[in-house]
Amino acid sequence: SYRIPPRRFFQKPAASQRIPEFAFAFDIDGVLLRGSDPLPKAHKTLSYLQSQRIPFILLTNGGGKHESERVADLTSKLDVPIDVSMFVQSHTPFADMDSYKSKTVLVVGGDEDKCRHVALRYGFQTVVTPGDILSAYPEVWPFSKPFLPYYSTFAQPLPAPISPSSPSTSLKIDAVFVYNDPRDWGLDIQIIKDVLLSQSGILGTLSSKNGNKSLPNKGYQQDDQPPLYFSNPDLLWAATYHLPRLGQGGFREALGGVWAALTGGPNEGVELKKTVIGKPYKPTYEFAEKRLVKHREELLSESRGREGVLKRVYMVGDNPASDIAGANNYRSEMGTDWVSVLVQTGVHKAGEEPKIKPKMEVETVWDAVNWAVEKEN
Ligand code: G3P
Ligand code: MG
Repeated sequence: SYRIPPRRFFQKPAASQRIPEFAFAFDIDGVLLRGSDPLPKAHKTLSYLQSQRIPFILLTNGGGKHESERVADLTSKLDVPIDVSMFVQSHTPFADMDSYKSKTVLVVGGDEDKCRHVALRYGFQTVVTPGDILSAYPEVWPFSKPFLPYYSTFAQPLPAPISPSSPSTSLKIDAVFVYNDPRDWGLDIQIIKDVLLSQSGILGTLSSKNGNKSLPNKGYQQDDQPPLYFSNPDLLWAATYHLPRLGQGGFREALGGVWAALTGGPNEGVELKKTVIGKPYKPTYEFAEKRLVKHREELLSESRGREGVLKRVYMVGDNPASDIAGANNYRSEMGTDWVSVLVQTGVHKAGEEPKIKPKMEVETVWDAVNWAVEKEN
């Protein structure tokens, strides 16, 4: 699974420097970056924390590149040394899903086939993308034919053909992972729908059980249906454009709408069986907390500082539905208190009344850190 390369000493504290018992978790889009542009006070804030040896991690629903690549990118954009041990992104937890590593997985989303390479680096051995399927069988989704030249630049041969007449040798998808925001929603919805309604993931087949109203759930969502994982629930996110943009949650809702229509229509439709990770869900915060504790321990060992424990984490975010909700609802088994701080530089804007209330609302990430450090001193 994904392993953190040996740490380079990014936050080398002075000898026997005390490491505070509080830390920060920063959302990225709308807090530190807008698109690929750093927000004004992002560099100043992270540099200050590093100078004060106050531990922090970056916790994003974004993704699409391997952690090491994204971290190098963030280090240059924010002009602050960021280590992979300080970084958790949407699909990072997929790296630990070892039971699927030897199976055939469909990886959806992201630019070109970058997410394929992330999955391969995580240890998944057989990775198929919708672009591979379209390139091999353009008629599978006729409306993406104009994009075939784009797909042909990175499509890989399929590990098996789509041959419904001989299911035993036909391409079989064992699980579907949406790693990042899909670029070609039409193709991706079509392919995922084909997998979900197939006989046990065998592409080109249609499960005879599906639609059989005598079965539970009107015959849909059979136990032989390949599992579907989404890495990021965000319906909206703060990109460069001044208004929030649809995120991976928008794609999920579009797929869910098609699924409801296919399985019985608006009133009859069957709920799309899926697993969604990312903020605001507990597994992501547990994963982030473990990462933060480990990072703080490394700082302690480097500084030979007095132990102390991590008592409080200030979660600084721009999206009430993910960052704030997640921190407000997270009950740490370690007893760490997560304090939500909402900024006005992303999805949420000054003057809006957020449905999900933060512990504190400030304008920028710098104000968030100032408020928290004041509170701690
Ligand atoms: O795709 C990225 C978007 O969903 C939000 O990312 O950094 O605000 O959690 P972030
Ligand atoms: Mg954000």
